[in-house]
Amino acid sequence: MIDGLDRGLPNRYYDNRQDFVAERQKIFAPMWVCIGFASDAPAPGDVYPLEFMELPLLLVRDNDGGLRVFHNVCRHRGHILVTKPGTLGQSLRCPYHSWTYALDGALLRTPHIGGSGVHDASGFERSKYPLVAVRSALWNDLVFVNLDGEAGPFDQFIEPLEKRWADLWGASGPGELRCAPDHSSITFELDTNWKLAVENFLEAYHLPTVHPDLNTISPLNAHETYISHHFAGQLAHSYNLDIGAGEHLPVFSDWPPQSLGEAEYPALFPNTLLGLQADHLFVMVVIPLAYDRTREETRLYCAGDSALAEKYRPRRSEQHAFWTRVFQEDVSAVTGMQKGRASPGFDGGVLSPVMDTATAAFHRWAAERLGVNRTVPSES
Ligand code: FES
Ligand SMILES: [Fe+2]
Repeated sequence: MIDGLDRGLPNRYYDNRQDFVAERQKIFAPMWVCIGFASDAPAPGDVYPLEFMELPLLLVRDNDGGLRVFHNVCRHRGHILVTKPGTLGQSLRCPYHSWTYALDGALLRTPHIGGSGVHDASGFERSKYPLVAVRSALWNDLVFVNLDGEAGPFDQFIEPLEKRWADLWGASGPGELRCAPDHSSITFELDTNWKLAVENFLEAYHLPTVHPDLNTISPLNAHETYISHHFAGQLAHSYNLDIGAGEHLPVFSDWPPQSLGEAEYPALFPNTLLGLQADHLFVMVVIPLAYDRTREETRLYCAGDSALAEKYRPRRSEQHAFWTRVFQEDVSAVTGMQKGRASPGFDGGVLSPVMDTATAAFHRWAAERLGVNRTVPSES
């Protein structure tokens, strides 16, 4: 705080690898963070590798239908185990020396480990070298992990958001989420730090300049900010189901008729951006790849089986195109801010006491975990 105003985090938290890796330890590892989507590995034997803050991770769908998360690295010499999404059947074979693991991570085969044609070795017990599992939890289609294994129960973490949304989509909303292939996925890779993608989502201040079309249907003055313990974001009061041609998409069956205009856009700290409207949910997982490189993986879900009908295809496509355009418009905002972090003429800036309150809350939240003293201007 300076002159009673909040400052942003200093440039160093956006512009170097050392601080990026420190964030992994201090912000991400101790809590529950979303890394991806269970529907990316839908059937037994399916695998989906992903990189998260330089960590190679692997989603595996087990024979019993459960989803597991492993470090995607072989216990022998540390080769990456799986490089492409796909269906592997009953086992995972390392491409280097063919050590082979079961879908539950157990080490099954170690060919020639004891010499040519000898597949056992004295003193070596396979049972001691399974794939290293990452503690994980599913919430609807979202895969969360707790990297250090020490966080409290996942249910406690997600409870405040669940309680809040129970007033909108009721008890049945989560069970009604459906992915339609022509509607579901939007991916961007951006030259920016992950926090700038989150910060940009936290405010509606940029609507008139960056999203002029969106601002005509969801104007700045129909937004308000809310801030909670592990999440913050925008409430919008002007969602209009009827924009577009033809019949609108089905709404969640418990959604109160008097609240059809309500929409909520919280960022679940640190990296999960959500948009809940009466007829769909979007989830954007902000995946930090490097201090200046970020992947945004978004999935859209419509409400109930009936929304998958052919007659709604144009509406689904329209909605998909709409969000794709909005997220595309944000690209220049977040990459432009990243470029500014190289300037000695900027070191955190000053936040609007009215329009940037959620950004300030996110910075306070992050600074607390990073041990940053935001009360002292860095240039003084
Ligand atoms: S590194 Fe995987 S089998 Fe050798
Ligand atoms: Fe935006």
